[in-house]
Amino acid sequence: MMVCEYRPGLEGIPAAQSSISFVDGQKGLLEYRGIRIEELAEKSTFLETAYLLIWGELPTAEELAAFEDEVRHHRRIKYRIRDMMKSFPESGHPMDALQASAAALGLFYSRRDLDNPVYIRDAVVRLLATIPTMIAAFQLMRKGNDPVRPNDELDYAANFLYMLNEKAPDPLAARIFDVCLILHAEHTMNASTFSARVTASTLTDPYAVVASAVGTLGGPLHGGANEEVIQMLEEIGSVENVRPYIEDRLQQKAKIMGFGHRVYKVKDPRATILQNLAEQLFAKFGNDKFYDIAQEMERVVEEKLGHKGIYPNVDFYSGLVYRKLGIPTDLFTPIFAIARVAGWLAHWKEQLAENRIFRPTQVYNGRHDIPYTAIDQR
Ligand code: SDX
Repeated sequence: MMVCEYRPGLEGIPAAQSSISFVDGQKGLLEYRGIRIEELAEKSTFLETAYLLIWGELPTAEELAAFEDEVRHHRRIKYRIRDMMKSFPESGHPMDALQASAAALGLFYSRRDLDNPVYIRDAVVRLLATIPTMIAAFQLMRKGNDPVRPNDELDYAANFLYMLNEKAPDPLAARIFDVCLILHAEHTMNASTFSARVTASTLTDPYAVVASAVGTLGGPLHGGANEEVIQMLEEIGSVENVRPYIEDRLQQKAKIMGFGHRVYKVKDPRATILQNLAEQLFAKFGNDKFYDIAQEMERVVEEKLGHKGIYPNVDFYSGLVYRKLGIPTDLFTPIFAIARVAGWLAHWKEQLAENRIFRPTQVYNGRHDIPYTAIDQR
């Protein structure tokens, strides 16, 4: 057996062979199944992109229409899931509510028919269809309201905004939200995808796969950073405070949220697209003073940390877009999950195709041959 050197965070160590997405971190390039992210953001829709990621090819018009129909028809959640969510504390974080609810789906569909393409497709459709409904339901129920039923007249992104706000969204807002979902749908072997693949490798059910990935995505070093960015912009409060804030953080050796990436050593291409989407929203719905603060942050961080390859990542500008769409800050990471479920499911399928259980080794640095000490002698 080949013995490798230990690398914290498994930096640079391949954990799988994958044809789902590709990142060139020096050039700032991201492709899904070989197609540049910029092109998908301009021309595709989230469900079409999800299909591409999961089944490997862009769908034909008929395939896409059938897939969209299936997702539309599975948007409603069982009343038992809804009632379970009603009993969640309203002070709880929506990511925890989502993780519990995604896992609870496994109670209803626990059969593990992993060799059956119909089972795989049903699970894909059900997870893509119900996760937005569960998030919107939790949002309304924690305010004491009944959840809003999905609207079959609306497409995927517009329906989510409708379920949150009880009114059909502005078409530009809905399109921009859909593009955000495309941008967040997949990103090679990130922490939550790795988590999904490890869980998948045990041949458990796809609901457990997604629940474990949701739990991993929530942390502030990963998807949870998008919420922290807005909290940081609020704390900074003005353009003049940016430089002292950053200098103070760096002196304390603290991280600046929304910056840095294990793979990108230039600006994340998704951050560039998200910044552009934010500008489109400001042009239509009015400016946001946080945008000036964010731009100044980008300038100062580049000046201080650019030499280390630290630039805005996907989480830096996404919050400004969601804020302008009127979405509460603690739903930003659940929205990341709505999109990333496509990537997780693509990796679940790929893992099953050539499965071997993940079972890495460790470098033991503890003691040996220690005699047991009786309790009264400790
Ligand atoms: C996502 O992996 C993916 O693909 C993830 C993702 C996806 O789509 O799935 O792209 C989504 O998770 C985006 C990242 C969101 N997280 C944040 O914005 C949190 C802030 N960023 C960091 O904590 C950090 O940059 C990470 C977690 C993103 C990456 O961590 P690494 O690769 O382990 O890097 P590191 O912490 O070891 O830092 C390396 C150096 C250190 O300096 P030195 O000790 O070598 O001098 O860079 C510095 C760090 O101090 N550094 C930062 C910094 N990020 C790295 N310094 C200040 N602020 C930062 N944000």
